[in-house]
Amino acid sequence: MPTYDLIVIGAGPGGYVCAIRAAQLGLKVACVEGRETLGGTCLNVGCIPSKALLHASHMLHETHENFARMGLMDASVNVDWAQMQSYKSDTVGTNTKGIEFLFKKNKIDWIKGWAQIEGPGKVRVGDTTHETKNIVIASGSVPSALKGVEVDNEGGVIVDSTGALALPKIPKSMVVIGAGVIGLELGSVYARLGAEVSVVEFLDVITPGMDGEVQKQFQKILGKQGLKFTLGAAVSGVTVENGTATVSYKLRKDDSEHRIEAETVLVATGRRPHVDGLGLDKIGVELNERGFVTIDEHWQTNVPGIYAIGDAVPGPMLAHKAEDEGMAAAEVIAGKHGHVNYGVIPGVIYTTPEVASVGLTEEAAKETGRRIKTGKFPFMGNARAKAMFQGEGFVKMIVDADTDRVLGCHIIGPNAGEMIHEVCVAMEFGAAAQDIAMTCHAHPTCSEAVREAALACGDGAIHA
Ligand code: FAD
Ligand code: NAI
Repeated sequence: MPTYDLIVIGAGPGGYVCAIRAAQLGLKVACVEGRETLGGTCLNVGCIPSKALLHASHMLHETHENFARMGLMDASVNVDWAQMQSYKSDTVGTNTKGIEFLFKKNKIDWIKGWAQIEGPGKVRVGDTTHETKNIVIASGSVPSALKGVEVDNEGGVIVDSTGALALPKIPKSMVVIGAGVIGLELGSVYARLGAEVSVVEFLDVITPGMDGEVQKQFQKILGKQGLKFTLGAAVSGVTVENGTATVSYKLRKDDSEHRIEAETVLVATGRRPHVDGLGLDKIGVELNERGFVTIDEHWQTNVPGIYAIGDAVPGPMLAHKAEDEGMAAAEVIAGKHGHVNYGVIPGVIYTTPEVASVGLTEEAAKETGRRIKTGKFPFMGNARAKAMFQGEGFVKMIVDADTDRVLGCHIIGPNAGEMIHEVCVAMEFGAAAQDIAMTCHAHPTCSEAVREAALACGDGAIHA
């Protein structure tokens, strides 16, 4: 008899949620994690520490930019970087300890060490082979390498996101390679802390895949906050001399070569699935051409009894997507029906203002060939946002012109990451824009802008 019903490999948001749900459903579960603490990338070197630094640096920015405007005079705030780092580490620590508590509560064994799959039902950690009925690969992702650029997180000059979360000091200047989510969140942090931040991006737009109007407005707002953008630029290498980095890049439009110097370079050009050392090639688990584990609609790999979820499989690399897959895979393994609606997975960038989106962009909706309508409402027409000096963004809703069904929503504005969920629920229920428009929204809230955008899909917004 195998010792376990399920062994989960990796204790990130995919793996730990899968383990907890499986235990709740009565399975005997173990989770293997090689890190010193539970919680994976997200809790240790991702979502949580980055949000702590975003919060602290946002507070600093508020004191500098907005306190005096509100009559809060002479606010003088100095940054104690060591204390800010320790606040960040404490935030991480209480959350990773929280997962340990949940494992104990749900009687999940934490097997410490790096796992290798010897075959279906056999997971080796150190010198011990553990027997199990099912295996879930939840081994996550790591930063992708960029040719010609050697990351040295300890050195603090050329770093990836992990190094950027723990720099020895606040640099005077920073070049961010890649205008994606990591580059813009962490670039914002250091810009607010006083660094000159330049972002070099290969494409002609920032945050590829996002709605075009949002991209433009987001770039404009970040530009006002001091971030400099060089778009359409291919980085060919980074050298370091006497502690200063030089980034070489070529502009794609005319092949001209340029250089830019900085104290720190953050490489943020994407992440790749982390399946190294699991022995998947030996047991014949299929990977796709980009190295992600191939799964069927039940999160099962081509090898029966071996499942995979989260950043290790195709789809958006987001903690909540990993969590949803973790729950669903656990339910399938327990003989129930697991479900993830991939059409309604929100994405949020936690800058100020926040940027949030769900469903189709206008461009993607047009590509489907259906007739669409859009409704847009600027936060300039929203009293609450203006009181917070955040009137620059907007809510944009995309609906099917024939049925009025909501197809997508994109928000750039205060608390966008919270507001998007009303649209997620609406989309889960197959709601029409009119359903949102007819729902009473409390005044004065930023959420009123969502209702106004829904009204704008019909007879018109009131305050525009
Ligand atoms: P991971 O969290 O990567 O966890 C995998 C775990 O498996 C790791 O702890 C690893 O040590 C372990 N592991 C791997 N191989 C083995 C093995 N052989 N044996 C034992 N253990 C193993 N997403 C959001 O939704 N919101 C955010 O705000 C956000 N911010 C981010 C900020 C940064 C800087 C970064 C880098 C990422 C951020 N993400 C965010 C993405 C998010 O962290 C990932 O999508 C999420 O962590 C994926 O979860 P996962 O469980 O699939 O993998
Ligand atoms: P990303 O895929 O979001 O952005 C990478 C950017 O780098 C792209 O704009 C790409 O065009 C650019 N790029 C690639 N190669 C380049 C080159 N050679 N020179 C210049 N630019 C180049 O990846 P990122 O920011 O590293 O984030 C990785 C993952 O982590 C994302 O998939 C994201 O989902 C997740 N994440 C999510 C967060 C959130 O939800 N708030 C926060 C941080 C990360």
